[in-house]
Amino acid sequence: MNSQPSELQKFLAAQEKKSLLRFLTCGSVDDGKSTLIGRLLYDTKLLFEDTLALLEKDSRKFGTTGDDIDFALLVDGLEAEREQGITIDVAYRFFATDKRKFIVADTPGHEQYTRNMATGASNSDLAVILIDARKGVLTQTRRHAYIASLLGIRHIVLAVNKIDLVDYSQSTFDQIVADFSAFAARLGFVSQIAIPLSARYGINVMAKSPQTPWYEGPALLTHLETVDVDTALAGGPFRMPVQWVNRPNLDFRGFSGTIAGGRVRPGDMIVVAKSGRTTKVTRIVTMDGDLDEAIAGDAITLTLADEVDISRGDVLAAPDARPDVSDQFAAHLLWMADEEMLPGRQYLLKLSTATVPAAVSDLKHKVDVNTLEHMAGKTLMLNEVGYANFSLTQPLCFDAYRDNRDTGGFILIDRFSNATVGAGMIDFGLRRATNVHWQALDVNKQARAAMKRQKPVMLWFTGLSGSGKSTIANLVEKSLAAEGKHTYLLDGDNVRHGLNKDLGFTDADRVENIRRVGETAKLFLDAGLVVLVSFISPFRSERRMARDLVAAGEFIEVFVDTPIEVCMQRDPKGLYEKARAGTIKNFTGVDSPYEAPEKPEMTVQTVTAPAEVHAQAIVAYLRERGYLG
Ligand code: ADX
Repeated sequence: MNSQPSELQKFLAAQEKKSLLRFLTCGSVDDGKSTLIGRLLYDTKLLFEDTLALLEKDSRKFGTTGDDIDFALLVDGLEAEREQGITIDVAYRFFATDKRKFIVADTPGHEQYTRNMATGASNSDLAVILIDARKGVLTQTRRHAYIASLLGIRHIVLAVNKIDLVDYSQSTFDQIVADFSAFAARLGFVSQIAIPLSARYGINVMAKSPQTPWYEGPALLTHLETVDVDTALAGGPFRMPVQWVNRPNLDFRGFSGTIAGGRVRPGDMIVVAKSGRTTKVTRIVTMDGDLDEAIAGDAITLTLADEVDISRGDVLAAPDARPDVSDQFAAHLLWMADEEMLPGRQYLLKLSTATVPAAVSDLKHKVDVNTLEHMAGKTLMLNEVGYANFSLTQPLCFDAYRDNRDTGGFILIDRFSNATVGAGMIDFGLRRATNVHWQALDVNKQARAAMKRQKPVMLWFTGLSGSGKSTIANLVEKSLAAEGKHTYLLDGDNVRHGLNKDLGFTDADRVENIRRVGETAKLFLDAGLVVLVSFISPFRSERRMARDLVAAGEFIEVFVDTPIEVCMQRDPKGLYEKARAGTIKNFTGVDSPYEAPEKPEMTVQTVTAPAEVHAQAIVAYLRERGYLG
C-alpha cells in the first residue's frame, strides 16, 4: 500500500480541522424554519456529495468513510447536551461544506418554545431569526432576539423570508430591518446582518439571487461559512469543574473533567477555588496518552503535586483569575415550567458539576420581553424572564455568564418531579451572607436542652383548615407543660397576626409563610424547646425544607388526616362556607391544593377517636423515643 496519504485521507483530515459553527434557528410557526433548514441540509449535502464523488476513485472504502464523517459530526453535537442532563425537544442537524462544519439546533416553535430555545441556544454561537416578510417584526421576533442575547448569543442573522411573496420589495425589507434594529440595538449583538431570502425557492440561501439586485450582502450560507464567532474561551482564564476524582489504585489520584475555559500545561499553578489551596499540575492524562497542553473543550484528567482535598463540584482555576465563591448571587432566570416559580421554594440548582438546594430569595423584577421594560412581580410564569437574587444552601464557584457560559449558567430542577424548571444566567456574586459569619456561642443548643432536661424536637402538624391540628397541638403542649417540659406552640392563625401579617394565601405567600415559620421554629429548637408547629403547610416542598433545616430526628411530621368533607362540616370559623360561596379565594381544599405527606412520622385520623386520644399517642411517641428525658 502507498504510504503517502491518499486524497481521501487528506480530505478526511481536512474535515477534522474545519471549524464548527453551532447555530440556532428561531421563528414562529409558518415562518418557514423547517423549509430553510431542509434546504440547507439538502443543498449542502449535494455539494458535499459532489466533492466526495470526485474522491471516490481514491478509495474502495468510500461508502463507510463517507458515513463516518456524518457520524462524527453527530456525536460531536450530542455530547454537550448529555452532559447538561437536559433532554428537551430540540433536534440537532448536521451538515458541512468545504469551509465549515455546522450543527443547527432546530427548536420547535410551540408553547414551550422558551425552554427549547434555551436548550438550543445555551451552546450556540449564532441565531438565525426568521421573519415572514409579509408580517414584519412580531412580538415573537423580539422575544427570540431577547432570549438569544440573554443566553449569550452574540451573532444574529435576521432572515427575512418569503421575500418572493412581497415582490422582492426592497422597501419592505428595509422597513423590517429598521424595526428590528431599533429593538436589537439594546441587546449588545456583536454582528447582526439581515438577508432577504426565500427558503422555498432557494433565493439568497446558497448563492446570491438576481431577484434581489438591490441586496448587497452575502447569501446566507456564505455568511454562515465566514462569520467570525470566535468565543475566545481558550483565551480566558483556566477553569475546570471537577467531574470526578479518578482513583483507580493507591498510586494514582487524578481529577477528571472538561476544561470550561482557558488552557493548562504541566507545571502550571492552579487553585482549588473553594478552599483557596494552590498546587502545581504535574500531568495531563488522557486516553491517548499525556498531553503537553489542553484547552477549553478538552476532557482530561489532571494530576497534582500536592495532596489537596478536592471533590466533585470543585473548580480548578487560574490562581491569578479566580472564579467567584459565594452562596448568593444575582442572575437572570428564564422560567420553563407550567407551575409558577415561587420565591423561597427550594429547587435543586445545577451549575457545571455541582448540584445544591437553592431558592430565589428576592425577585427584583420581571422583564417584558416585548419592550424590555422592567415590571414588578412576585412569581414567574411559564416562559417569563426575571432578574433575581438567589440563595444557596452552600457556596458554589462560578463566573458571570457573560464571561463564561459553562461556569456562569445553571438550571433549576424540581425536587420532586426532577423536571428542569428554569435556566439561569449569573450576573454577579453577592457577598452578604459569606461576610456574615455564624457567631459561635458558648451556651449552645445542647447546653440549653440539658438545663431543661429534654431533647429539643420540632413537632410539625400539617393538615387542612379545620382538621384539628391546633386542637391536638394544644392538648399535646398542655400535657407536656404539666410534666414540666419547656415548649412553644407556633400556630398559623396567631403567627399571621404578627410576624407574617404581610402575607396572604397565594402559593407564593404560603411558601414564604412556611419558610419564616420553619426558620423561627429552628430558633426555638436551638433554645432547647419542644416546638409545636401547627400550620396547614400545604406543600411538600416547604415541609421538606423545614425538615432539612434541622438534624435527623429533630423533625417529626404529624399528618392530621381529616377528610375534607368532615372539615367542611365542622367549619369551625365558617370559612369553608365563605370559600364555597366565592367570598374567600385560594382556600385550601377548595380552590388551592393540599399535598398530603408521603412519609409522615405519624398520621392521626381524627374521625376515629377524640383529640385527647391522639394527643396522648403523640406524647407516648415522644416518650418512647427519649425526647422527654
Ligand atoms: S398556610 O397554608 O400558609 O400554612 P396557615 O396555616 O398559615 O396556612 O393559615 C391557615 C389559617 O388561615 C386557616 O386555619 C384559616 O383559619 C385561615 N385562612 C384564611 N383564609 C384562608 C385560605 N384562603 N386558605 C386557608 N386558610 C385560610
